[in-house]
Amino acid sequence: MYPRIKNLVIYTFSITLLAWVFYMKKEEKLAASPAEQKVNVAEDRLQPPVLDSAERSKCSPNFTFANSSAALPEPHRVFLTYKHCRNFSVLLRPSRCSQEMFLLLAIKSSPINVDRRVAIRNTWGKEASIGGRRIRLVFLLGRSDAKIQVQPLQQLLAYESQEFDDILQWDFVDNFFNLTLKELHFLRWFTEECLHARFVLKGDDDVFVNTYNIVEFLRELDPEQDLFVGDVIANARPIRNTKVKYFIPEPMYGATFYPLYAGGGGYVMSRQTVRRLQSTAEDMELFPIDDVFVGMCLAKMSVTPKNHAGFKTFGIQRPFNPFDPCLYKELMVVHRLNPTELWIMWTLPVCPAGSAVPGQQPHSSYQTAGEREWSGEEKA
Ligand SMILES: *[C@@H]1O[C@H](CO)[C@@H](O)[C@H](O)[C@H]1NC(C)=O
Ligand SMILES: *[C@@H]1O[C@H](CO)[C@@H](O)[C@H](O)[C@H]1NC(C)=O
Ligand SMILES: *[C@@H]1O[C@H](CO)[C@@H](O)[C@H](O)[C@H]1NC(C)=O
Ligand SMILES: *[C@@H]1O[C@H](CO)[C@@H](O)[C@H](O)[C@H]1NC(C)=O
Repeated sequence: MYPRIKNLVIYTFSITLLAWVFYMKKEEKLAASPAEQKVNVAEDRLQPPVLDSAERSKCSPNFTFANSSAALPEPHRVFLTYKHCRNFSVLLRPSRCSQEMFLLLAIKSSPINVDRRVAIRNTWGKEASIGGRRIRLVFLLGRSDAKIQVQPLQQLLAYESQEFDDILQWDFVDNFFNLTLKELHFLRWFTEECLHARFVLKGDDDVFVNTYNIVEFLRELDPEQDLFVGDVIANARPIRNTKVKYFIPEPMYGATFYPLYAGGGGYVMSRQTVRRLQSTAEDMELFPIDDVFVGMCLAKMSVTPKNHAGFKTFGIQRPFNPFDPCLYKELMVVHRLNPTELWIMWTLPVCPAGSAVPGQQPHSSYQTAGEREWSGEEKA
């Protein structure tokens, strides 16, 4: 066992606490600021939290589909009722990507996941550059649906946005069925405000990303060529069991198989592919599963997503020893980790040179990090 880990767990807690303390302080500061500002704050307070979406987004429900599919589960009916609503305004945005950047880390998060954002900012997301190549982290969010928490959460996000300049939030409810909306709006934001980035890693906020291996992997590649690499699934069948989260009724998708797609936990793509994805997605009907939706767009673009063994978006087979420093040596993205596990991975000692990587297949189609050892300590 590594005594440092205990310290880091405590560190995590302190940082989360600190975030809240800052946020409370900021509230105090606002309350004590000059009259003009106070009025604004007071006005904000008076306004109900961002809940009445009908008024804000001006897109009325269409009950035609929903009525004809009364037997569907509630989320599916809601999805069909609002499927045509695809233009939502930005609530919080980071500054434009104003200069040449190598890699944009675009991480789907939801308002309540402040602990995960703190962990990412302080571990694998904290590098501003690797080997002289600029990296930027941006979190993608909708708004909270939980009626009681909405206002404090929104204030926390406003604080995070101001402090870290990494929050991109839109005015739709952040839930599983709206992830495709998040995808679409991200693609739009990228083409409008971040085309200076050569490559994009899109992922979830419960992944560990080995940014060193990713940069190494992308180093020689051309951002103006199509590139889409991840944990690719072939011949996935739509789930027809209504009790499963990923249930899709036949009227929504009739074919036996989904197109090739990469698990949404983490994949990389070139600027050119993002650009083309955006224009393709504009003409596509929304589909509730976002990574399958991207697969559909890729099929339409005749881009084949490439599989890479370093992307473990469906998790590593458990049980594994998360304290084994060699476990992650050759990986790019590991999915389904909690903030504590992120910290642990970040603080693992260097994997001794020449030691075997347990439970790892040799990489199939691509070369990865080669000789260089990845270590969290070097950067801490
Ligand atoms: C609702 O959707 C149906 C089916 O696509 C369409 O024919 C109809 O015009 C839509 N109604 C409204 C009010 O948009
Ligand atoms: C759908 O059903 C609701 C109530 O069941 C009804 O008010 C509405 O008019 C119906 N809409 C359509 C387009 O059939
Ligand atoms: C969304 O915006 C685009 C262009 O701004 C427009 O063409 C489209 O009709 C809008 N869609 C809806 C449902 O408002
Ligand atoms: C997606 O967000 C919109 C806007 O907030 C909301 O009206 C809709 O119900 C959400 N969709 C689903 C399937 O929850």
